[in-house]
Amino acid sequence: MKKVLIIAIAFLAFSCKKQEAVPAEKQAEPTASEAATSEGMAEEIQTPEQLGKQIFEGKGTCVSCHKTDVKLIGPSLQDIAKMYKEKNGNIVTFLKGESKPIVDPAQYALMQPNIVLTKTMTDEELKALEAYVYSNLK
Ligand code: HEC
Repeated sequence: MKKVLIIAIAFLAFSCKKQEAVPAEKQAEPTASEAATSEGMAEEIQTPEQLGKQIFEGKGTCVSCHKTDVKLIGPSLQDIAKMYKEKNGNIVTFLKGESKPIVDPAQYALMQPNIVLTKTMTDEELKALEAYVYSNLK
């Protein structure tokens, strides 16, 4: 019984503290953190193109070889988008390692190691990469 009382008191004390804490903070505070949360969610609900850019420049490290309009180590995104559009290719299946290179097959050895990485990506991520590549189409 004593234990229960102690727990009850502890609980009360705790909840009192909590209640104190709320008015102590500015009233705008919960709204602000709410806004932050929905902002975070908005980031998740980004367009495929935005997600693709994020992967391309982030964990994909694609940007180290592919630039928008100039050939670096790999073809430019514009060239890739153009070629895939013309040939009705599928960037997603290429990144899954399920279709052959059509842009610069002679240089495929340089691109191939990335397929190991892109193969592990979800369809959503690959479609996002595809959308990002196409967004560079002039
Ligand atoms: C080490 C440099 C390098 C990195 C990093 C790299 N690529 Fe490439 N990529 C190349 C080269 C070189 C080619 C040209 C060979 C080819 O066409 O397969 C190429 C070709 C491509 C093509 C055209 C394939 C085709 O049909 O010919 C796509 C699409 C592509 N890369 C997407 C990506 C994406 C997405 C990433 C990031 C996940 C990436 N690349 C990272 C070097 C790279």
